[in-house]
Amino acid sequence: MGSRKAGLSGRRVLLVVGAGVAAYKALELARLFRRRGAGVRGVLTPAATQFVTPLSLAALTGEEVFSELFSLTRESRIGHIELSREADLVVVAPATADLLAKMANGLCDDLASTLLLATDKRILVAPAMNLRMWAHPATRRNVERLARDGVSFVGPDAGAMACGEWGLGRMAEPSAIFEAAAKLLEGDTTLPPPEGAMSAARPLAGRRAIVTAGPTHEPIDPVRVIANRSSGRQGYAIAAALAQAGAEVTLVSGPTALESPAGVGIVRVETARQMQAAVEAALPADIFVGAAAVADWRPAAEAGHKMKRGGAKEATLTLVVNPDILAGIGTRKKGRPKVVVGFAAETEKLLEHGRRKLVAKGCNLILANDVGAASGVFGGARNRVRAISADGVEEWPEATKDEVAMRLVARIVELLERAP
Ligand SMILES: Cc1cc2nc3c(=O)[nH]c(=O)nc-3n(C[C@H](O)[C@H](O)[C@H](O)COP(=O)(O)O)c2cc1C
Repeated sequence: MGSRKAGLSGRRVLLVVGAGVAAYKALELARLFRRRGAGVRGVLTPAATQFVTPLSLAALTGEEVFSELFSLTRESRIGHIELSREADLVVVAPATADLLAKMANGLCDDLASTLLLATDKRILVAPAMNLRMWAHPATRRNVERLARDGVSFVGPDAGAMACGEWGLGRMAEPSAIFEAAAKLLEGDTTLPPPEGAMSAARPLAGRRAIVTAGPTHEPIDPVRVIANRSSGRQGYAIAAALAQAGAEVTLVSGPTALESPAGVGIVRVETARQMQAAVEAALPADIFVGAAAVADWRPAAEAGHKMKRGGAKEATLTLVVNPDILAGIGTRKKGRPKVVVGFAAETEKLLEHGRRKLVAKGCNLILANDVGAASGVFGGARNRVRAISADGVEEWPEATKDEVAMRLVARIVELLERAP
């Protein structure tokens, strides 16, 4: 840190603050720059003044703060071109979805965006937005385009959002933005994207994932099966979210009425044994998510013809146990995916069963959910899960299955980063 202080004294940063909840953290960032000896010129977008006041930023930077393009021109103390070039580095924090879109398209309808287009200096952006805004194809396109244009990125991080959701989109911590900026100011060019930004937008690029979903059907005779009420919606949502995060996904699906999600390779099966074979065939993988409701039992023998009632008052079905696909993957000695996630669909003793399953099946994470009839989970659009791992139990708030999937993906990214 001592060398950073020496390295940054006399260096100047133009800090552009966008209109996001994380704008308050820009004040802390300004303080960090000042403490390490750098001069900071603050520019707030007009909308950002709704989040932090020019006065706060001016107090922390010790310099006049600008916001309006035309008042700047009218007063002509400093021109916008000069402002855009007087700094050694431009830092945009928080970079809202709107600011990224403007930057990617060369729009300049306020002071901040005009400076960003006019500058001849390196630009470091710290995106901050709701996880869906971050995951939106439009934002991903903008990020990729900016990365190709040579803009550097730091973050975003995964975590709790001001809007109550959880996922990728939180602004990087001021200390991380400061470190990234200091590297650029010191001429360390190992930081910049394209790769960095692309991987922030697609954190699972280059990873392979296998997801199982839906029920299995275990034939009794040519027309009857043992089935369950799983719709497959949660597993399909997970496959879609993993693909959106850049993973190459194979979805092994039992019989469902759902269409294959975009960008996902699908293998349709009926029975547990077929599902197991399809999963084995899809290996190797970095990630395995067992979201299918695999039948524990199957009829010992499938009648070759439709069974007739005859005069019998009772009939007996002999069942044999099915392969345990999740345990087979989680406890593999060789070629085990780095992250194995299982579901514990329970109607009672959720945590107890979930914890036992975590260990017995060799999982990194178990999502335990109550699938009793009253919960509406099987077939419904929403889910409420508890995430059980070696770290303990997290209660995830009730959410749509898409939201649960996105939160799971962010958790998988974390687990992969920690995996040996
Ligand atoms: C309370 C509130 C919080 C917001 N937080 C964010 C945010 O974190 N990220 C974002 O991209 N947009 C956020 N927005 C939307 C932006 O403020 C809006 O798109 C604005 O036009 C962006 O302006 P800018 O380009 O000056 O940053 C938020 C809006 C409100 C009302």
